[in-house]
Amino acid sequence: MTESSETPEVSESQIAVHWREEEYYPPPEKFVAQANANDPAILERFSEDNFPDCFTEYADLLTWDKPWDTVLDTSAAPFWKWFVGGKLNACYNCVDRHAAANPDKTAVIWVPELEDDETLHISYGDLLRQVNEFAALLRDFAGLKAGDRVTLHMPMMPEAVVTMLACARLGVIHSQVFGGFSGNACGTRIADSGSRVLITMDGYYRAGSMGDHKVKADEAVAEAKRQGQDVDKVLVWRRKPGEYQSPTPMVDGRDFFVDEVIGKYAGQDVAPVSLDATDSLFLMYTSGTTGRPKGAQHSIGGYLSYVAGTSKYYQDIHPDDVYWCLADIGWITGHSYIVYGPLALGTTTVIYEGVPNYPDGGRPWRVAEKLGVNIFHTSPTSIRMLRKVAPDEPFKYNYHFKTMTTVGEPIEPEVWRWYYNVVGKGQAAITDTWWQTETGGFLGSTLPGLQPMKPGSCGPGALGIFPVIYDEDGNEVPKGSNKAGNICIRNPWPGIMQTVWGQPERFLDVYYRKYNTDPDSKDWHDWPYFCGDGALQSDDGYFRILGRIDDVINVAGHRLGTKELESAALTVPEVAEAAAVPVIDDIRGRMVEMYVSLKPGFEPGPEMESKVVAAIETEIGKIARPKNVWIVPDMPKTRSGKIMRRVIASVSNFADVGDVTTLANPEIVDGIRQHVQRAKVAKGDMPRELTETELAEIQAFGNE
Ligand code: WT7
Repeated sequence: MTESSETPEVSESQIAVHWREEEYYPPPEKFVAQANANDPAILERFSEDNFPDCFTEYADLLTWDKPWDTVLDTSAAPFWKWFVGGKLNACYNCVDRHAAANPDKTAVIWVPELEDDETLHISYGDLLRQVNEFAALLRDFAGLKAGDRVTLHMPMMPEAVVTMLACARLGVIHSQVFGGFSGNACGTRIADSGSRVLITMDGYYRAGSMGDHKVKADEAVAEAKRQGQDVDKVLVWRRKPGEYQSPTPMVDGRDFFVDEVIGKYAGQDVAPVSLDATDSLFLMYTSGTTGRPKGAQHSIGGYLSYVAGTSKYYQDIHPDDVYWCLADIGWITGHSYIVYGPLALGTTTVIYEGVPNYPDGGRPWRVAEKLGVNIFHTSPTSIRMLRKVAPDEPFKYNYHFKTMTTVGEPIEPEVWRWYYNVVGKGQAAITDTWWQTETGGFLGSTLPGLQPMKPGSCGPGALGIFPVIYDEDGNEVPKGSNKAGNICIRNPWPGIMQTVWGQPERFLDVYYRKYNTDPDSKDWHDWPYFCGDGALQSDDGYFRILGRIDDVINVAGHRLGTKELESAALTVPEVAEAAAVPVIDDIRGRMVEMYVSLKPGFEPGPEMESKVVAAIETEIGKIARPKNVWIVPDMPKTRSGKIMRRVIASVSNFADVGDVTTLANPEIVDGIRQHVQRAKVAKGDMPRELTETELAEIQAFGNE
């Protein structure tokens, strides 16, 4: 077993975990009767014997310009190639073919955050026209062509969808950065992807106020330049065409309002470019163990097939449904399950601009009632928050969900039951979908019409996905053993990323080296995909995902790398050392706490703490804002000088710090503990008692 530089030396494997087995909830009969997958024969069709050909069932949901010759080509293992020889266009599949069949059908409903603003209904015919015009602009004004990368920093607006699809029409690889990320974070991703065009927006509403988003474009361009990448055009969509709502000036010759330029392309048609299935559709950056973000590179044919198939069978999308996913378009969930999956199936997808509890915790249910939403998709963090602020509110509204999804973090059984009984009124099938940016679509979930739900477990592997749990030595951890280990996927699948953009070695290192025994093998059986999550499997084959085993903190479903957080803190000149650790939070799952030590001659105090917070907001964004910054005289360290994150994580969570006698400086631990815990108690910031699995995670954090 090769020890990768990015995988920890010790993991949660072999930690015995005991949890109460939850009861099954059978899928509601009314749901089953109409479900896309309600015949158990589908399980047989996707059995291992039928791999990889089973996935042609997903590919057949698309319209191909040329059929593929080979379903799965493993000759460059583990850089898998799906549907080789096939040609298609993703935009054509998501727009043109539905516009031709049903031009007046609503493709996108946009719900502004301010309740009195007008909701927009965009038909497939309108969407096709808008996409054509913007594609003409991208091609003729911005000079973009197939294979070029372009960075998008767009909020939750229909223009984000238009932009993505216009890129897809031309074969331009879009790299959408989450709108809540800072200008600097966007700039780093511009540089890494080699984009010379940035597409952004003037502003958007969030929690009741309009923020200046355009200012981030200026920061992003400056940061990209510092990293050696010039941006020659910034295209700025205006939330209200003709009305600029940002105080940040436009830069002459570089910045252009889309609504001013697009007139020239009115009525133009751009033929969808016929592309290889193995060409790339987009990059989606995500965090890992090192500071440099990883651009997960997704294919056109495999990815689109996978999200179309999983949207059909797991979200149970029919063309007549009104489907609402509350994730952000800037994350993979938004790409796969707001835009590409639902639109490939020709359904109506809802995009909501703002935060779910604005102006109150009844907002989602009012939207659902008004629009007739019947499929609902959100994260445990939003569910926990809505449950806290308005636990009985859903009963006041007359909506009916046939199915609901939860994604992004483990969901506590108690929270799951509220989602089921209150939000779903006991009538909706829930899918707890476990997957990752890298995987394109779902890895683990129950098939809602065929497999019963079990609160807190995502379910078995998805159709055609064969998970396994290995211990550190590569031995299989048997199901029902109550032992956790590293969950891996034994086989490739069409949604898996092609590589890490520009870092093929990192792709191999992080995801494949750990359990590969023969690097020259061209047989997929030799290349289990290492997910980076701890998990266990019960007797029934259902998986319970415990969380990341690497140096990643999952805040409200957003993956933040400790290295990125620490590098951000180190941009404060007075900071000598920094360490980021998770604290358990009842709403957001985990939050970040920063520990910093200062260079000689500098004094701790609230001002210094604010500087660290500001640096993190500048380098990453407000989502990474630490709950607390603790300035300590020194960090607990090993004799080799490594910061013991598990010790400070234990302090922050009021957990036992364990044996510290082997540290280089054990004497400082107690001082830190007293300082931090006293301050927390004074603030009323005492955590509840941790569960066994939470305790295991905290006490293993940083793994040393
Ligand atoms: C990590 C991936 C999946 C798209 C959104 C997040 C955690 C994801 C679940 C779930 C328990 C989950 C895992 C995974 N995770 N879904 N249903 N139950 N944990 O994508 O930012 O790439 O994060 O999120 O730890 O590895 P991401």
